[in-house]
Amino acid sequence: MHFHVLTLFPEMFEGMLGYGILSRALDRGLLSVGLHNIRDFAHDRHSTVDDYPYSGGPGMVMKPEPLFEAVEAVMESEKVPRSAPVVLLTPQGRVFNQSVAEQLTRHEDVLLICGRYEGFDERVRMHLATDELSIGDYVLAGGEVAAMVVIESVSRLVRGVVGSPKSPANDSFTTGLLQHPLYTRPARFRDMEVPKVLLSGNHAEVAQWQRQESLRRTFERRPDLLHRLKPGELSETDTLFLEALRNVETQ
Ligand code: 6GU
Repeated sequence: MHFHVLTLFPEMFEGMLGYGILSRALDRGLLSVGLHNIRDFAHDRHSTVDDYPYSGGPGMVMKPEPLFEAVEAVMESEKVPRSAPVVLLTPQGRVFNQSVAEQLTRHEDVLLICGRYEGFDERVRMHLATDELSIGDYVLAGGEVAAMVVIESVSRLVRGVVGSPKSPANDSFTTGLLQHPLYTRPARFRDMEVPKVLLSGNHAEVAQWQRQESLRRTFERRPDLLHRLKPGELSETDTLFLEALRNVETQ
């Protein structure tokens, strides 16, 4: 999978990409992240990439010419297929989540355009971008951190990037539920004990405990996720367990 990032601050990415599973995946050639400075595509002596809004008002707007030319140059030099998504990172985009991450893994190449200032000239959104993503309902100083969030979450889904191929399948959100609690040794630490069932070695009972704790945690913290589950994602046993949790709550 190849990410092509257009940004005014390419150095911001280097630290993040130098550690952990991303660094390993880059070394092994499972991923690549091309960093391209939008300023290199400015025309004038001052390398201007922003200008005043025609409407007046505060803030500056990212000029269209450097962005169009940067995308065209990267597409050409990196042999990116025409069908590749060109994603603007902006608080006005649709909200990024695990399912959007999964959709992006279907493309071999993804372009990510990071904005700064008040926003992009509208012609960039209309005629250059194919998608606009936000990472949540808060305002960042620019799209760089958001692009990194997209790169990291999509990369984990690429085969071979995460140690065990089973790991991403159990993630919170992949199952539509929050993950169950995890414990490691020691079995007893300052009078705090690991639940007995986990020490029992009974795989069926452990699996049942994990499922129920996953349901309980989702019920308590993110009930909205339960409403979004598709039919068939909850077994009859799951439904009975949730029913019992609801009854406890109304008592
Ligand atoms: Cl993608 N950009 C900015 N500037 N702020 C954001 C965001 C993106 N997503 C959430 N807030």
